[in-house]
This record gives sequence, structure tokens and C-alpha cells, in this order.
Amino acid sequence: METVKILDKEFEIFIPEQKIYEAIDKLAEQITNDYKDSDPIFLGILNGSFLFAAELLKRIKFPCTISFLKLASYQGTASTGKVKRLIGINEDLKDKTVIVLEDIIDTGITMTQIKKQLVGYEPKKIVVTTLFFKPEAYQTNDHIDYIGVDIPNNFIVGFGLDYDGYGRNLTNVYKLKK
Ligand code: IMP
Ligand code: MG
Repeated sequence: METVKILDKEFEIFIPEQKIYEAIDKLAEQITNDYKDSDPIFLGILNGSFLFAAELLKRIKFPCTISFLKLASYQGTASTGKVKRLIGINEDLKDKTVIVLEDIIDTGITMTQIKKQLVGYEPKKIVVTTLFFKPEAYQTNDHIDYIGVDIPNNFIVGFGLDYDGYGRNLTNVYKLKK
């Protein structure tokens, strides 16, 4: 069993890269069927989605644009405390079809925050795409439009995903060793 050590933790191979590419092939095909005539803008959420966004876009053959956003932590004035602010939107999203690209949806809290903030830019439609999804951890009822791979509630690294900033460059996906 192939293992890697990142900082203090051992990880074991979980999803080989060929499996990930197959999932991305499928996503690109579905998105092409559904949005080829929509002139969408893809929005990758940094840092985690950089590899996924690159591989997906290589497979999209219709006219489209892409940009990247980042979530910055800041202390909200509301009693809810920590809210993450979406930064880096330089494009006019009004009346555009926006296809959000995330590396992973876990509880779903991050995606809910992203969608709430994007609505303020008055896009025509917000389409949610995630490479990985943890159904057992998901806490909201929000619809996810496209899912690459469902995974159990394990902590994973690789293909853009990190443990404390490291591991994003791994080509396969690894899970934390028990
Ligand atoms: P959520 O708000 O719980 O859905 O979490 C989403 C964010 O948590 C992702 O964008 C990742 O940055 C991070 N995350 C969740 N699960 C994992 C994991 O298994 N490995 C690495 N990062 C993760
Ligand atoms: Mg992320």
C-alpha cells in the first residue's frame, strides 16, 4: 500500500489519478451538454480547486471564460462571528451563468456562504460543481449540480487538497491512515 507522510501524519493511497481523470471527463461531458450554448463563466475557488479547474477546463471545448476567487476570513460584526468574505471578483457577473468549481464539499457551510455572496452580483444562474463530496458530513439541503466522486467521511489530501498547506501537489488522492 502506497503511503505518504505529510508533516506529522501518515496517509495511504485512496483514489488513483486515473479515477479522478475519469470523473473529470464525465463532469466535462455533462457540463458541455447542459451549458454549451450559455457562454458561462467558471469560477474556481482557491486554493484547493486549482488543479481540478485546470483539468476540467482542458476538457471544455465550447466558448467560456474562467476566473478564480478566494475566501478571506474576517470577523463579522454580527453575533454569528466568523464569516468568510469572497474576494477577487473583477468580472461583471450580472445575468451570467456562473459555474462554481470547488475541490470538496464537506459540511456544505463554505458553499452556502459562497452562493449567498454571489447572489449579490445578480447572476442569471449559479451552478455548483465539486470534485469530491462527503455525503455523510453534508449538513445543508442545498442542491449540488455536479459531483465528481462521493467519498466517505475521511480526511483526504492530494490533487489540490491540503493538510496544513501541504500535499496539494500529489497527483493521487490519499486518506488519513487510521
Ligand atoms: P465545508 O464548508 O465543510 O463544506 O468545507 C469545505 C472546505 O473544507 C473545503 O473547501 C476544503 O478546503 C476543506 N476540506 C473539507 N474536507 C477536506 C478534506 O478531506 N481534505 C482537505 N480539505 C478539506
Ligand atoms: Mg477549498
